[in-house]
Amino acid sequence: MIIVRTIKEMQEAKKGLSGSIGFVPTMGALHQGHLSLIQQAKKENDHLIVSIFVNPTQFLEGEDLDAYPRREEADIKICEVAGVDIVFMPAIGQMYEKDELCIGAPAIRGYILEGEKRPGHFDGMLQVVMKLLNLSGATRAYFGKKDAQQLVLIAQMVKNYFMDVQIIPCEIVRDEKGLALSSRNVYLSAEEKERALCLSRALKRASKMVMAGELAVSVIRKEMRTVLDEADKVEYVAIVDRAFNALEEIEIGNTIILVAAWVGKPRLIDNIWI
Ligand code: PAF
Repeated sequence: MIIVRTIKEMQEAKKGLSGSIGFVPTMGALHQGHLSLIQQAKKENDHLIVSIFVNPTQFLEGEDLDAYPRREEADIKICEVAGVDIVFMPAIGQMYEKDELCIGAPAIRGYILEGEKRPGHFDGMLQVVMKLLNLSGATRAYFGKKDAQQLVLIAQMVKNYFMDVQIIPCEIVRDEKGLALSSRNVYLSAEEKERALCLSRALKRASKMVMAGELAVSVIRKEMRTVLDEADKVEYVAIVDRAFNALEEIEIGNTIILVAAWVGKPRLIDNIWI
């Protein structure tokens, strides 16, 4: 495994690869959720590149950029054991210059739900993902369904910009109690971790209602809100189709149910694909 820190080194390292390239972009603090993406990418490709870069342009003023967990040494070990070929860990100065050309998130899909609560977040996210996809030369890039809106917007960017890379959606990884894994879970106390389970419980309740034949979005959302009572603040409960258009009735095979809520310090998100 090689660790690459500059754009030039990355471009050189890539030249030595023949065959398919699997790519997993991350912001580090790797956990089992990242590992499952890395393992899938390893299985499906000849070479494997992982990037670790806490991208400042996707954090809003006042968000946790400085406090975002950083564990460089542990992350490198995880990558080594997982059989990664190249770990790309650039400094901010390598990735950005002043007065950059920027791409923007789409005006509707990019500014609802996460985009409404965190305006500008998706512009920064797409900007860095575009750079990373170009640099890595990925054949396939792997993204978790947990960041569902991110995943859908990246797939749209790839389509709209005719980019030659396959976006692979990967299942959400949960702990034994059902909490979706996230680097931000480290901020949860034991008591908050228990309360945070209300997000996955609300989603399970919704899924059970659908299985029992309830398709009305308003009824399901109302029921989910009662389960989410344990959160400190619920930001949204949304039911959309897989292109993020609002729905009035669940469409089996084309629906995502999403929640965002604060529990203690972190803001948590979770979802289920129906
Ligand atoms: O999901 C993340 O960790 C980040 O948004 C990503 C895709 C690595 C871009 O910085």
